[in-house]
Amino acid sequence: MAGGERIDPWSSDQTHDYARLIEQFGLGTVDPSVLPNPGMLHRRGIVFAHRDLDVVLGCMQRSEPFGVLTGLMPSGRMHLGHSMVIDQVRWFQEQGADITVTVADLEALATRGTSLKDGRDTAINEYVHNYAALGLDPDVTNVYFQSSRPAVQRLAFTLGRRTNLSEFEAIYGFSGGTNLAHVQAPLVQVGDIIHPQLDDYGGLRPIVVPVGIDQDPHLRLTRGIAGKTHWFNVKQRTEGGLTVSLSVQEDNQTALGVSGGQVDSAVRDSVFERMAQALAPLGYADIISNPKYGTLDIPGAALDDRARVRMRMLTLEREMGGMGLMPPCSTYHRFAVGMTGDKMSSSQPETTIFMDESIEDMERKVQRSLSGGQPTTEEHRRLGGDCSKDVAFQYLQFFFESDDGTLAEIRSEYESGRMLAGEIKQVCIDSAAEWLTELAERREMWADRLDEFLAPDAV
Ligand code: TRP
Repeated sequence: MAGGERIDPWSSDQTHDYARLIEQFGLGTVDPSVLPNPGMLHRRGIVFAHRDLDVVLGCMQRSEPFGVLTGLMPSGRMHLGHSMVIDQVRWFQEQGADITVTVADLEALATRGTSLKDGRDTAINEYVHNYAALGLDPDVTNVYFQSSRPAVQRLAFTLGRRTNLSEFEAIYGFSGGTNLAHVQAPLVQVGDIIHPQLDDYGGLRPIVVPVGIDQDPHLRLTRGIAGKTHWFNVKQRTEGGLTVSLSVQEDNQTALGVSGGQVDSAVRDSVFERMAQALAPLGYADIISNPKYGTLDIPGAALDDRARVRMRMLTLEREMGGMGLMPPCSTYHRFAVGMTGDKMSSSQPETTIFMDESIEDMERKVQRSLSGGQPTTEEHRRLGGDCSKDVAFQYLQFFFESDDGTLAEIRSEYESGRMLAGEIKQVCIDSAAEWLTELAERREMWADRLDEFLAPDAV
């Protein structure tokens, strides 16, 4: 990692070189022009990177099922920073996704000492209530608790076999002094992210996890683990097309036609027969089977077909007794700056606006927030304001001003010096007041309907 950018989910440092992160971790960049009805966070480059987003875009295009998984830490109050993920979840919901919400009550218990009872109350009254107000649909949303979903904990154990302390050291920078709660929590989170694909929770389908960039280590871990369970690997073929190859492991060797270190050709041939059958609905003219070497070539497949081929092979893997787990897709958003210029955090109330903040408190925070204005009016008129520093501008951009035209106008007024620092703060205050008031009204509407969001095992 020397010289590299380290992302640490537990760090308080949120200043990142985003371009470098994309390069270092091989993230895809988000092009809003290929998204159906892109949301404001997409259009403004705030959701800036992804892994395998094209897989879920393909599902949207073909109207195939896909899900979103998101999680919340049931401690503290919900604030603007948390609402960004829910904005994205709502967008996926509008494109046809089902939604699973993890309440990380075990993680909160282990890492913060929050009792399960307190975690539950906070999750429902503080988070689920606001998720409802922000537009999640109870008909497609399932909120569950880590502590009451044994399937998740079981996955944490069984998938734990596919990683080790060295990998945790490499991904998270753990060392001998690391508290083991920090080892357990990511494993349970792997279970959270994977489990919606289990037959009891919606079955095999792509799952996308929208997160802040600081959570990418969890995605890397989960994707790596899912990949290690695969019986069939789907790769780009050197001569064009795709190659499916067998991944023979201890627990699948009999099924894949290996016994006593030898290939059992009768079994192997029947495996390849089933592979070809599994791929038949995709309609490739040419499939070249090489049972002896454990590979199957599809010269006519496009690189874009990879996810569909993979889904077919995972279905077959499940039929044959494997887990058949699709690696999760993800999107990453930039962080909004805290109002004081520090990191936004619920433990420092002055850095953010809470979802139930009073208009007076919000107004005070915006008035005191970091400004991109010049020291004197004369200088400001001459040099203009700096939107890259100005909290009021950025909060309009991230949260409160959904109209791109209006936002562009505010920017040009401010940068030209026609609009003063105090004036842009007032614009922000007015928009925020409207936003908070509407949210409070919608909270009111949902107040006695929160049970509708809970999964059967959470009621
Ligand atoms: N670790 C996350 C946090 O600190 C909470 C969480 C648990 C989560 N499971 C998740 C987030 C799955 C996203 C997906 O906030």
